[in-house]
Amino acid sequence: MDKNLIIAPSTDPCPIGELIDYARDILREGADWIHCDIMDGKFVERKTFDEIVLSLLSKRVNSVIDVHLMIEDPIEKLQAYAKAGANYITVHYEALKGTIATINAINKIHELGCKAGLSIKPNTPVSAIENFLPFVDIVLVMSVEPGKSGQPFIQESLSKIAELSQLREQNEYGFKIEVDGGINEQTAGAVASLGADILVVGSAMFNAPDRMALIRKLKSINN
Ligand code: DX5
Ligand code: ZN
Repeated sequence: MDKNLIIAPSTDPCPIGELIDYARDILREGADWIHCDIMDGKFVERKTFDEIVLSLLSKRVNSVIDVHLMIEDPIEKLQAYAKAGANYITVHYEALKGTIATINAINKIHELGCKAGLSIKPNTPVSAIENFLPFVDIVLVMSVEPGKSGQPFIQESLSKIAELSQLREQNEYGFKIEVDGGINEQTAGAVASLGADILVVGSAMFNAPDRMALIRKLKSINN
């Protein structure tokens, strides 16, 4: 394997007041994207920041802005996040009410000029989103329960990554596989070898004594 992994540190472990400094730091150290975790206190227990903070952040950094919406009724907020500078917007399959809402969300994200991602929680099987795979740019596999950083990687996620890789190859789909939750030096190898393209790294990155060294190690996994 020789493709380069995309390393997307997440905003979740970082206090809001330090967000811009943290984002600039990790970009300087070699990170590819900023993964912005948006929580509303309803779809998940915690609340993080909203489109206003996202807009401040996206204007101050030069990076792909990868927005992960862990919110109820995401369709209503798509326009606001697109306007705030999102390049990728990922919505949760579990937050959408059925097939039509899911298709509507994907179409609307594209109409807004963004790339569309669909995410599944640890208990949702790949089969639940199989019909949407031809239309999405990203499938985000949650390898922890969404809601907070610092949880251990759920090993059962590995079979989902393998299944998605296989479906992508068989059907020549174009989506990227993004994995979020519990990614660190120990877990990244298996995730990457099964076909993941984008690694979201939360607490392991925020707490790393040498962020550049960690990014280099993670990026070189497939080479
Ligand atoms: C969790 C968020 C993640 C989180 C990952 O709900 O979606 O992006 O920040 O953090 P770690 O890598 O610590 O699991
Ligand atoms: Zn996330």
